[in-house]
Amino acid sequence: MSILNRLLAATALAAMIVPGTAYAGGTVEVLHWWTSGGEAKAVGELKKAFEAQGGKWIDSPIAGGGGDAAMTALRARVMAGNPPAAVQLKGPGIQEWAKQGALNDVQDVASKENWDSVLPPVLAAIMKYEGKYVAAPVNIHRVDWIWANPQVLAKVGITEMPKTWDEFNADAEKLKAAGITPLAHGGQPWQDATIFEDVVLGVGGAAFYRKAIVELDQGALTSDTMIRSFDQLRKLRGDVDPNFSGRDWNLATAMVMKGEAAFQIMGDWAKGEFLAAGKKPGVDFLCSPTPGGAFNLNSDSFTFFKVKGADRLEGQKVLASLIMSPGFQETFNLAKGSIPARTDVKLDKFDSCALKSQADLVAAIKSDSLVPSMAHEMAVPRTVRGEFLDLVTNFFNSDMTSAEAVKQLAAGVKRAQMQ
Ligand code: GAL
Repeated sequence: MSILNRLLAATALAAMIVPGTAYAGGTVEVLHWWTSGGEAKAVGELKKAFEAQGGKWIDSPIAGGGGDAAMTALRARVMAGNPPAAVQLKGPGIQEWAKQGALNDVQDVASKENWDSVLPPVLAAIMKYEGKYVAAPVNIHRVDWIWANPQVLAKVGITEMPKTWDEFNADAEKLKAAGITPLAHGGQPWQDATIFEDVVLGVGGAAFYRKAIVELDQGALTSDTMIRSFDQLRKLRGDVDPNFSGRDWNLATAMVMKGEAAFQIMGDWAKGEFLAAGKKPGVDFLCSPTPGGAFNLNSDSFTFFKVKGADRLEGQKVLASLIMSPGFQETFNLAKGSIPARTDVKLDKFDSCALKSQADLVAAIKSDSLVPSMAHEMAVPRTVRGEFLDLVTNFFNSDMTSAEAVKQLAAGVKRAQMQ
C-alpha cells in the first residue's frame, strides 16, 4: 500500500471511529480583538459556555485595542471568500456589511426568544438590517469615564474626582507639581479619539456632540465650542508622560494600578483590567464620568457572516442564542467591565461603577443625552471616523493650533462624505 493510500485508509478509519465532525452545538470560528487581561477573561466565558453546549469554538483573536487591526483582517478574509462565522462588529459597520449581503440574519432565534422585548430600542435598531436581526449584542460599554488611583490622588490632597474640565486641569497641575504623571494615555489614534470625544461631550454637551460628531454639521465642526474642545485636548497633551506614543490602552491602565499615573480617560473595559488584576472599586481604583452629564455609548455585538455547511450555520444560531441568554450576559459583563445589553438582567452582583453606568444610562435616555461613540464605531461610517482619527492624532502629536484643527477636520469630514 502506498503511503498515500495508507494515509487515506487511516483517515477513513478515523472517520468511522469519530463519526463525522459535526458538534451538537455546531462549529464557529470567532474573530474578535479581546486579548487584554480583562477582555480575554470575558471572551473566555463565551467560549466556555459555547463548548458547554457541545459546540466547537475556533478562536481567531486579532490583537489591537479598539478593533482596527481586526477590521483589516476581516476585510482580507471576506475578499478571500473565507469569512469567519462570527465576527465582533459594531454600529454602522453592521449595516455596511449587511448592505453588501455579507451577513446571515438570526431573526428566527430573535423571534423565538423575543429579543425586541428585552433590548433597549436604540440598541435593537443598531442590530437590525431591513427589520431583521443580523447581530446579537453582548453588552453596553460606557466610553465617558475617568479612572483614578485614590492613593496617588491622596498624595496631593485630592479627595474628590474632578467634575469639570477646569477641575481636572487644576488637579493635573497639582500632580505635575508633585512630579506625578496626571494622565496615563496610550498614543494610538483610537485612544486619542476616545479622549477627544469625551472632551467634546464635556465642553459642548450632548446636543453639541450630536450636531458635530454624529450629524457632522459643518457649522458645529468649525464652531468656537469645537475650538475650545481642541484647547482642552491640548491641555491633556501636557498631562501625559513622554513615553505615551504607541502604548496599548491596558498598559496605560496598569500605570494607574501601579501608581505611576493618577488618571486614565477610557471606557469601562478599563474596569475589566482592574478587576482581572484583583483590584477593588472604591478601594484600589475610582470611577467617575467625564464632565458632560451625558452617556457616551459603545456596545459590542457579534454578527454572523455567510458561511456554508449545516454545522457552521447551527453554530451561528447556538452562539446568537447563547449571547442573548440572561445568565451569559451576567457572567460575561461581570468580567468585561460593561453592563448587560438586556434590560431584564438583575445587577445584584455588579459593582458601584456598573450601577452608576446603569442609572446614568436610564437618565440619559430620559433627558435625551445618550450619544453614540465615534471612536468606537457607533456613530459614523468608517471613512468619516478615519478622518477624525487622523486629524485628532495629528493634532495631539504636533503643535497645530485649535483653529487650524477645526478647519482641517471640517474639510476632512466633507471629503469623506463625498466619497
Ligand atoms: C472597544 C470595544 C471594547 C474593548 C475596547 C478595547 O472598541 O468595544 O470591548 O475591547 O475596544 O479593545
